[in-house]
Amino acid sequence: MAEKKVVLSGMRPTGPLHLGHLVGALSNWIALQEEYSCFFMVADWHALMSEYERHQSLSEYIVDNVVDWLACGIDPDKAVVFLQSDVQEHLDLYMLFSILTPLGWLERCPTYKEQLQNLSTRQLQTHAFIGYPVLQAADILIYEAELVPVGEDQLPHLELAREIVRRANYYFGLDLPEPQPLLTKIPRLPGLDGRKMSKSYGNFISLGEPADEVTKKVSRMITDPARIRKTDPGHPEVCSVFTYHRVFSEGDVAEIERDCRAGKIGCVECKRHLAGNINARLEPIRSRRQELLAKRDLVMDILRQGKERAGAVARRVWSKIRQKIWS
Ligand code: TRP
Ligand code: SF4
Repeated sequence: MAEKKVVLSGMRPTGPLHLGHLVGALSNWIALQEEYSCFFMVADWHALMSEYERHQSLSEYIVDNVVDWLACGIDPDKAVVFLQSDVQEHLDLYMLFSILTPLGWLERCPTYKEQLQNLSTRQLQTHAFIGYPVLQAADILIYEAELVPVGEDQLPHLELAREIVRRANYYFGLDLPEPQPLLTKIPRLPGLDGRKMSKSYGNFISLGEPADEVTKKVSRMITDPARIRKTDPGHPEVCSVFTYHRVFSEGDVAEIERDCRAGKIGCVECKRHLAGNINARLEPIRSRRQELLAKRDLVMDILRQGKERAGAVARRVWSKIRQKIWS
């Protein structure tokens, strides 16, 4: 059998995970772990880069995020689950890549420009922060990963990673692969208020949200503003509730769309239906989360094991690179 391709992805532990993470990333990871050699990383260095001014919750978020991954179905026997800062070689390769990365590439990166604007209250004009995509490239290539499941917002980082790889291969005679993105087909979930789902807007449902909170939050979602009475014909295409139905109410979408357009279903009822389906999806996750939160040692063990497994691969790749350059 041909060797399995290597997949690497990561998340920054900056807060609780929410429905966006579940449908945008985790469901995809869970499918990938069956087929590929997967490395799933808690990107704590990347979190610190933007959160160093209030880093006190870092370790709590690290454990919390791993708990959420496991509760959703990431299986540490199939995938390597590890903490970025546990594997030193990320930083070795990061340094090597830094040597090769022209500042102009980083200054031009759209995510960098955007973040500086959005997070303007924080001091992010730092050496590390402008190098964010360089560390990301090192995260990927220290495992010689070929495939990287990410959201669309991360495509510029992968483009940069490939350019850095080309330079590394050219100058140092390496043969690192040029990593390719794996995009999900699932539409991006909007926030509960129709804006981008974001921690700073507080417009999300987290994976540990109690059932009655879910119901409350859904009931406050903005719907088609043209509907005042139940009999007014609706426009599901402008309604976030409907976008959520597409993801959480698979079998019933056609019927909901028809009834909404015909003014046969009221928004209150439609939302109750959605809340029920979200809760049905979250219920098993919620109970596994509770179990895992009570077994912190188990989570720490999984990270220890991940450190060993990831470290073994990273050391092998790094020593190959060292030999080319230092011998
Ligand atoms: N930048 C990614 C994000 O914010 C997280 C990340 C860090 C990552 N290193 C990575 C993703 C390597 C994929 C591969 O979502
Ligand atoms: Fe949105 Fe449902 Fe109301 Fe239609 S019936 S506008 S889909 S909440």
